[in-house]
Amino acid sequence: MWGGRFVSGPDAIMEEINASIGFDYKFASQDIRGSLAHVAMLAEQGIIEREAAKAITEGLEQVGREIEAGSFTFSRALEDIHMNVESRLAEIVGPDAGRLHTARSRNDQVALDFRLWIRDTIDTLDLQLQGLQQALAQRALDHAGSVMPGFTHLQSAQPVTFGHHLMAYVEMLGRDRSRLIDARKRLNECPLGAAALAGTSFPIDRAMTAKTLGFDRPTANSLDSVSDRDFVLETLSAAAICAVHLSRFAEEIVIWATPQFGFAALSDKFTTGSSIMPQKRNPDAAELVRGKSGRVIGALTGLLVVMKGLPLAYSKDMQEDKEGTFDALQALSLCIAAMTGMVGDLTPDLKRMKAAAGSGYAIATDLADWLVRALNMPFRDAHHVTGRLVAMAAERKIPLEKLSLEDMQSVDKRIVAQVHDVLGVEKSVRSRTSYGGTAPNNVRAQAKAWLKKLAREDKRGG
Ligand code: ARG
Repeated sequence: MWGGRFVSGPDAIMEEINASIGFDYKFASQDIRGSLAHVAMLAEQGIIEREAAKAITEGLEQVGREIEAGSFTFSRALEDIHMNVESRLAEIVGPDAGRLHTARSRNDQVALDFRLWIRDTIDTLDLQLQGLQQALAQRALDHAGSVMPGFTHLQSAQPVTFGHHLMAYVEMLGRDRSRLIDARKRLNECPLGAAALAGTSFPIDRAMTAKTLGFDRPTANSLDSVSDRDFVLETLSAAAICAVHLSRFAEEIVIWATPQFGFAALSDKFTTGSSIMPQKRNPDAAELVRGKSGRVIGALTGLLVVMKGLPLAYSKDMQEDKEGTFDALQALSLCIAAMTGMVGDLTPDLKRMKAAAGSGYAIATDLADWLVRALNMPFRDAHHVTGRLVAMAAERKIPLEKLSLEDMQSVDKRIVAQVHDVLGVEKSVRSRTSYGGTAPNNVRAQAKAWLKKLAREDKRGG
């Protein structure tokens, strides 16, 4: 079945399985940045002549321009981005181009390129997540007092506010960002100069290349430098957790947008119609955010499996570290963009949310709490009394607050008229003033504090 593609025999198969240029072309700019730093260091240390270094530098800059302009021809026979760049450099510079690879190997080169690429990508993701947090906190501020049901087990539990619900995601994304930044801190060491695995006999200055490339320091062990992919695994772990957060939010949007819930609607911008059922408006973008989390989790799992059996130091298996990572982080970036769009697009149906918050006896806890406070009942007894009152109301198909004082006193004669002061969804959320609770004033303060913090980050330039 596949034979047709391999007409020229085993060599072609080898080329196909071995080549990474089909995906590591993405490292072009990182590869050139790394080579420029390396050649400058080689000249500074007197390892190569200044003349040769100058020619190589100019040649590398030209290759960079050609790649950017799209006029560069990538060749699969040249295997990967490192060889593609070097081979073109040789065409431009001549034999001196060969001096660039002194005191280095593709093993430390690819480790460097990937670190640089991951570092850039973390910065982009962080900025995007900041934008999503801003969108959420803004809407949360507007809806700090809009009542909706809070759920546990997806059963109406206690009333909360829509703003409080949105702010929960601001917190999650804050942790996602701090995980990414944490990974970035740890990855910021430069593997260049580890060479193939053992270091080099040339008098290189690893601190110089590390500094030029914006790293905090060079990596300390040459074997570890070329065999380590923790920086990818950590980033993918943080990405997977973030993708799971977005997926949970997407799932809620899917639920809210059902006609049965009807809590919120998305516009045509983020929905599609059905080709057969004219009444439908499908939340495809949210479903895809939910679905794409699978890729991110898959990429993390895939790379963990690739790495788990590898002895030190470099093995070609590690070339499999890239495609899944590129795909996963690109998917995550798209999901963040889609969620940011949907947060702005979502129209909550406040009436429906409030009505739903009042149904299902979601204020039963407020009644029980009142019995504890006003009548000094132990909470377990209050829970029991409330249960009987809920059963009475349910039997008559009326909300708790519609039970008369006499009805209530028939269950416990100590109950007095003030009980009605705590019954009602708005009263319920207003009473939840404990730190982190859903009281509108709390939510407002949290949203404002976040918006201030996020705006300060803007000024610092992310
Ligand atoms: N394309 C390779 C990779 O992505 C680069 C390193 C190759 N090293 C080697 N010794 N063949 O891992």
